Amino acid sequence: MRRLVVVSNRVALPDEGAARAGGLAVALQEALQQNGGLWFGWSGRITPQSSDSPHIRQFGQVTFATLDLSRKDHAEYYNGYANRSLWPVFHYRIDLADFTRENYQGYLRVNTLFAEKLRPLLRDEDEIWVHDYHLIPLGEELRRLGIRQRLGFFLHTPFPAMEVLVVLPSASRIVRSLAAYDVVGFQTAADLRAFHDHVTLESAGEVLSNGLVRGFGRTLKADVFPIGIDVGPMVAAAESAHRLASTRRLRRNFSECKLMIGVDRLDYSKGLPERFKSFERFLEKYPAWRGKVSLMQIAPSSRADVPEYMQIRRQLEAEAGHINGRFAEFDWTPLHYLNSSYQRQTLAGFYRFSQIGVVSPLRDGMNLVAKEYVAAQNGEDPGVLVLSRFAGAARELTSALQINPYDLEGVADALARALDMPIEERRDRWQDLMSAVRTGSLDHWRDSFLKALTEAPYTVET
Ligand code: UDP
Ligand code: G6P
Repeated sequence: MRRLVVVSNRVALPDEGAARAGGLAVALQEALQQNGGLWFGWSGRITPQSSDSPHIRQFGQVTFATLDLSRKDHAEYYNGYANRSLWPVFHYRIDLADFTRENYQGYLRVNTLFAEKLRPLLRDEDEIWVHDYHLIPLGEELRRLGIRQRLGFFLHTPFPAMEVLVVLPSASRIVRSLAAYDVVGFQTAADLRAFHDHVTLESAGEVLSNGLVRGFGRTLKADVFPIGIDVGPMVAAAESAHRLASTRRLRRNFSECKLMIGVDRLDYSKGLPERFKSFERFLEKYPAWRGKVSLMQIAPSSRADVPEYMQIRRQLEAEAGHINGRFAEFDWTPLHYLNSSYQRQTLAGFYRFSQIGVVSPLRDGMNLVAKEYVAAQNGEDPGVLVLSRFAGAARELTSALQINPYDLEGVADALARALDMPIEERRDRWQDLMSAVRTGSLDHWRDSFLKALTEAPYTVET
């Protein structure tokens, strides 16, 4: 029987108590639940030596196989190349990128390690689906080891415009590695276009009329598969959230005051300093709202050993202190800034109770929080989604109030407009948004990717 093998750096083991913030782990956990399969990746542990063999655990229908990483492997592969080279470049932040040969070598080394440790676990009937920027060369490595199964790759982040990508010293090698897969999936048409540009203009490949791409001696399918959420459980969690103690306490605390909510990993791609500054501009420009609305920003710490993440954390602490120092009253705090992570059950209640959802990344592959916020609303009295045009989700969620997060004044105006929006307009917009969230569900994402993988041309020599 066909078995799905998912490979990703981050693996969400079901017995890990705290919420593991991050769209990839959330989506894959839900995508694997239905038919089961194998999930292979990093254990999240750093040990004196990287694992010789994976830790195998079974939860329900899903087998988890995870590897520990040595300090050096973790530093060079994860903190280094993945999160200080690829992540900033893929999010258009070449000003924050750092390129060293050591980190690049460490990245390749860990990809080789993953391939070698995965290989003995594979069966002939497996379909292998590799995820995200940490593991781009994994497909090539698996082929080098003689793996003939179909191989798919999905990029959860943006794929940057060619002019930006070529800043990466290893850009050509990275694009060539993608060509080892049978299907390469992107979040948006813009990402796919950027990939096509690279293949045709930088690598002398060609895009065929049926959407196939020929290059590096292979033909592969490259297409758009926007990731979604598991709508039913989010709706159910939000509808029953009034029973949770956390929701009751939130309602009590904000009974006199409207609430805007932001939920993001503490990452510079999420536009948090700009969001705080826009909120400050809003309080300056619309003084009648002072004392009547607060912004609650949930921002769990992420990649905390990486210097650029330490820097943004300090910046946000200063910014939040500044705004509260400037505007707070003895009975009103304008900005609630929280570094803890919350279970999605709890978030469902927070979303439902908030009149505004603020999602304002400077760049984002998709942004699942935007879709979760929509799904959690009460259709009779829905909140308003204020959404950056630079999130992948903006392509589908066209009825959100779309903003340019760099335009602080424009965002301040959008917040005011959202707060004043008449109920009919809120309902109409929400209907459209909800129908987009339902159409682009997580099941649809998984099924359409796997269908493409089954149907893709297959050019591995036998
Ligand atoms: N999340 C969570 N607890 C938190 C913060 C976030 O469970 O405290 C979840 C959130 O519900 C969403 C995911 O983490 O499902 C974040 O995904 P998104 O695509 O918005 O951003 P990413 O972190 O992947 O860049
Ligand atoms: C984004 C990336 C994922 C990553 C997640 C959390 O969603 O696309 O690959 O898992 O952020 O980041 P972390 O570094 O904690 O895995």
